[in-house]
This record gives sequence, structure tokens and C-alpha cells, in this order.
Amino acid sequence: MFGLIGKKLSHSFSKKYFTEKFQRLNLSAKDGYVYELFELKKIEDFEILIKENPSLRGLNVTIPYKKSIIPFLDKLAPTAEKIGAVNTIKIEKDGTKTGYNTDYIGFKNSLEAFLNLKPNVGFKEKALILGTGGAAQAVKVALDDLNITFDFASSSIKEIQDNAHYKILPYSEIDVANYKLIINTTPLGMYPNIDTFPPLSDENYSKIDESYFLYDLVYNPKETAFLKKGKEKGAKIIHGLEMLHGQAEAAADIWEIRK
Ligand SMILES: NC(=O)c1ccc[n+]([C@@H]2O[C@H](COP(=O)([O-])OP(=O)(O)OC[C@H]3O[C@@H](n4cnc5c(N)ncnc54)[C@H](OP(=O)(O)O)[C@@H]3O)[C@@H](O)[C@H]2O)c1
Repeated sequence: MFGLIGKKLSHSFSKKYFTEKFQRLNLSAKDGYVYELFELKKIEDFEILIKENPSLRGLNVTIPYKKSIIPFLDKLAPTAEKIGAVNTIKIEKDGTKTGYNTDYIGFKNSLEAFLNLKPNVGFKEKALILGTGGAAQAVKVALDDLNITFDFASSSIKEIQDNAHYKILPYSEIDVANYKLIINTTPLGMYPNIDTFPPLSDENYSKIDESYFLYDLVYNPKETAFLKKGKEKGAKIIHGLEMLHGQAEAAADIWEIRK
């Protein structure tokens, strides 16, 4: 059995995705190919869930448990450790539970294709990450691993924070002329608030042209207000569905679901 843990799971992409995948691959429920939703009121209930469902082989983890699940696991993949968050768990026959971060894998693979990165050539321009929440941490580690330099724009600080190899800037201090890749990791633009977009100044939005790459982690709608602003100026754009599919496929690989 497989499944998803989180607090409120009424609209789950993963359940639909894996149920359709099992059907497509003729993997039957009697062999354990079912995907269930497990709403946990508190993360401590994870241990009860594991005890009551010995046939569980894999779980996805969503809001608000991506960090708080870590003490309940036996091992972490190196990227999950660096990011400090887990969205996929593999459960071995002997009960060993390993945590992975497939948001990282989904983002990194889709970005490499989007930028058309060639091995050992890389991307010479700097990236700007909008937002500093959970998804931003997976994006940060992926950019680090691709040797792409970056700064963050944050709505929750007033002064520039200078870290060893990146800065966190208030939106008022941002000049997009310093960047060519802009990544929205905020929920702004997500359905039903489809008219919202990251609070870059009008001047900054007007500087975006065909030399820019805009990546939006938001996947519903596909073309957010942020992406529309870039598209109409000729920028190259990519929506969050590619990452969403990529993270699910990476989880399927980790659970060794045969293709
Ligand atoms: N495509 C995928 O596969 C995928 C995977 C993971 C997440 N996502 C999407 O990514 C988005 C973020 O997820 P998350 O888990 O990182 O959420 P989160 O932890 O809540 O972080 C979002 C960050 O966005 C910024 N933000 C929030 N509201 C804002 C506002 N009104 N104005 C300006 N900035 C605001 C905040 O950063 P500052 O305080 O620094 O501004 C916040 O920390 C969601 O829409 C989620 O669906 C997509």
C-alpha cells in the first residue's frame, strides 16, 4: 500500500496520479497497488498509522509535516538532509523508513531541461528566488547543485541579509537587471487567487524581456499572472506542473514501481 500524509487532503493530485498509474500498468490492488489519503491531526499519529498498516511500502508527505516527520524516520537521503524537509518515504520490509525530497528532483530535472543545460557548461547568469518558504529550500539546494548563483526576495524582512554565498533582499531592494532566471516559490497566483502575483515593482516587471527565464512553482492555473507578465514580453516560461509530475515520478522510482 502507498499513500499521502498531511493535515487536509481533500484535493490530492497524488492519489489521482498514482491510482491512474497503477491502472495503466495493470498493477492490482490485491498486490498492494492502492494509494490512500491519511489525514493526521498531529504528526505523532504517524506511528499509529505505521503500526496499523503493515503493508505500507511508501508515503508522500505534505503540508504541514514535511519537516516534523524527520524525527520519525530511520534515515535521510543526503538531499533531504540538506533541505531539511521530506516529501517521500520508503518503507522497507524490515520496517526501516528512509526520507527523500523529490520536490528537489522534480525541480532540478525540469530546470535543466528548461535552461537546456549541457553537462559542464552550466548557466552563467544569476537566479532570483521569490519567497523563502519550504519549496524555496528545495530550489536553493537544486541551484547550488547546478552551480547557479542566486539571491532571495522576501516579503518578511526589512533589511538586506548577507549570507556567505547569497543575499536575502526585501522586494524594495530588488533590481531584476541583476538576474536572468526568476523563480516564484510563493503561493501567489494559485487558484482561486489567480489575479495575484509576486510583489516585484512595476519598474522591475517592465525590465523583463526575451532574455529572461521565468519559472513558476504554482501549477494551478498553468499560466499564472506572473508567467503571463513574462510571456507578453517574450520571456521563456515554465509552469509548476512539470515539477509536480517530476516529483511524483521520482517517488515512483524510489518505491521501485515498475514501468
Ligand atoms: N510544482 C510543485 O511540484 C510544487 C512543489 C512544492 C510547492 N509548490 C507550490 O509552491 C508554493 C509555495 O509552497 P511552500 O510549501 O514553500 O509554501 P510556504 O512554506 O508557505 O512558503 C511560501 C513563501 O512565499 C512567501 N509568501 C507567502 N505569502 C506571500 C505574500 N502574500 N506576499 C509575498 N510573499 C508571500 C513567503 O516567503 P517570504 O516571507 O520570504 O516572502 C513564504 O514563506 C505553493 O503554491 C505550492 O503549491 C509546488
